[in-house]
Amino acid sequence: MKWLVKGIGLVTAAMVGIPTIIAAFSPSWIHRTRRSQWRLLGAVDSLPLGEMRKIVVDLPEEKWGGALRRKAVYAWRPAEQEVIVYSRSCTDLGCPLTFDPGSQCFFCPCHGGIFDKNGERIAGPPNRPMYRYASRITEAAEIEIDLNSVPPMA
Ligand code: FES
Repeated sequence: MKWLVKGIGLVTAAMVGIPTIIAAFSPSWIHRTRRSQWRLLGAVDSLPLGEMRKIVVDLPEEKWGGALRRKAVYAWRPAEQEVIVYSRSCTDLGCPLTFDPGSQCFFCPCHGGIFDKNGERIAGPPNRPMYRYASRITEAAEIEIDLNSVPPMA
C-alpha cells in the first residue's frame, strides 16, 4: 500500500511538474534556437524621418495550409540610418496595439496598456517594453526585419 501511494504521488508530481517546466522554459528556448528569417519591409525613403508608420509584412507560407499570412508592424526612423520596428502585439496578453499620432503613444484596447514612441511602458499591466524586431538597412537602401527576433506569438 505504501508503495502504491508513493507511486501515485510520483505520477501526479510528474503530470503537474513536467508541463509546468516545459511551459516555463520553452518560449525562451524556442526563441533562442530559431534561425533568422529576414523579410523586406520597404525602401528606407518610404519611411519619413520621425514618423511612425504601420506596415504590413508577408509572412512565410504555413507548412500545412500553404496560405500566405500577413502581419502588421510599426516602424519609424529616429535618424537617417536608424530604423526601429515594433511588433503590434501588446506585451501583456498580446492584443493589437494602435499608435496615436496626436499623443505619440501606443494604446492597447484590452486592459489599458500604454507605451511611448520608444516602446517603453507608460501605464497599464504590461511589465516590459514593446517587442522590437532586429532590423537592418541593406546596401540597396531597403529595410529588412528578422521575423524570428521576437517571441513566436508576438
Ligand atoms: S493585452 Fe494589452 S494591456 Fe493587457
